Amino acid sequence: MPCSMFKLLIRPLLFLLPAETAHHFTLGLLKIILMVPGKKAIFRWLYCVNENRLNKTIFGLNFPNPVGLAAGFDKNAEYIDELACLGFGFIEIGTVTPLPQPGNEQPRLFRLPKDNALINRMGFNNDGAEKIAQRLKQRKSKIIVGGNIGKNKQTPNEKAVNDYVKCFDILFDHVDYFVVNVSSPNTPGLRELQEKAPLLHILNTLQLRNNARPARKPVLLKIAPDLSQEQLNDILEIVQASKIDGIIATNTTISREELKTEKTALEKIGAGGLSGKPVKEKSTNVLQYLYENSNQQIPLIGVGGIFSPKDAKEKIEAGAALLQVYTGFIYEGPALVKKICNELLQRER
Ligand code: FNR
Repeated sequence: MPCSMFKLLIRPLLFLLPAETAHHFTLGLLKIILMVPGKKAIFRWLYCVNENRLNKTIFGLNFPNPVGLAAGFDKNAEYIDELACLGFGFIEIGTVTPLPQPGNEQPRLFRLPKDNALINRMGFNNDGAEKIAQRLKQRKSKIIVGGNIGKNKQTPNEKAVNDYVKCFDILFDHVDYFVVNVSSPNTPGLRELQEKAPLLHILNTLQLRNNARPARKPVLLKIAPDLSQEQLNDILEIVQASKIDGIIATNTTISREELKTEKTALEKIGAGGLSGKPVKEKSTNVLQYLYENSNQQIPLIGVGGIFSPKDAKEKIEAGAALLQVYTGFIYEGPALVKKICNELLQRER
């Protein structure tokens, strides 16, 4: 589907529905369409760029292209085989918690069209690690899958490490890499786990278990865009001390600065993480800071406000080895991944 058709026809219709309804409706429809024999091949032909020059080996995994789907889009690993037909180089599922939980009350996902943004306070709604592991087992696609893991809302921070360990153990055989999510603004107190002592404890514990396995899996850390330089320095120290494999910069922001959406509308929406264009600069600044202050030694995944090949280029220039999209995919449509891949190929020439 050409990008203009998506923006002129499909997006206005989808945007008539409440945001969360539109999300499930579109993915459900995609699943039904792709059940028709031959459709998967057509979608792959339309959206995938198969070109060896896009291959990248990062933390020991061979990515067919560097553009991934960010966490939160397919929280329960229900659509991996379908999403794999849309050109992504990898898909991150989750955030997964040990036990299933419903998340916050609806509505909890809001569009800010004037800002090309979303606000969400989903609150880690997910089917729980066991069920998701079963689903992952049944997938047919060989696409690289990351498992983004978190803690249940009811688990106090002092015991959070147990939740991360449970998810790690349950998902271990079914994902290609792990992401420790301590940066969602929608689980009360979660971001306090970004502090030095608790974070080091979680990462060291996971690494001990990881290294005891016959073949370890890459472990990454996903951070918020709202950290101070001092906190970012701590993060770099922790990453080096725990010898984890990379950082994802960034999650959504709690800031509401410089938005075109009216204050009253924002107040009505209430709490949540802001994603999309307004988070781009903040995320890129964090990415660049980490890149420049790590002797370029830590693999970084750049995410936050990528809506175009130009945005993707900016992230790569700031130090990203891999990219992820979420809000840009909602606003720009499925052709975004192919557009970015084609632009990256042009750059190579
Ligand atoms: C997210 N994001 C997210 N991140 C995460 O680590 N675990 C999660 O469960 C979720 N859930 C989630 C739900 C929704 C509705 C959105 C919009 C976002 C954050 C996401 O992965 C990404 O880091 C940010 O949205 C920034 O990227 P974009 O959206 O600006 O491309």
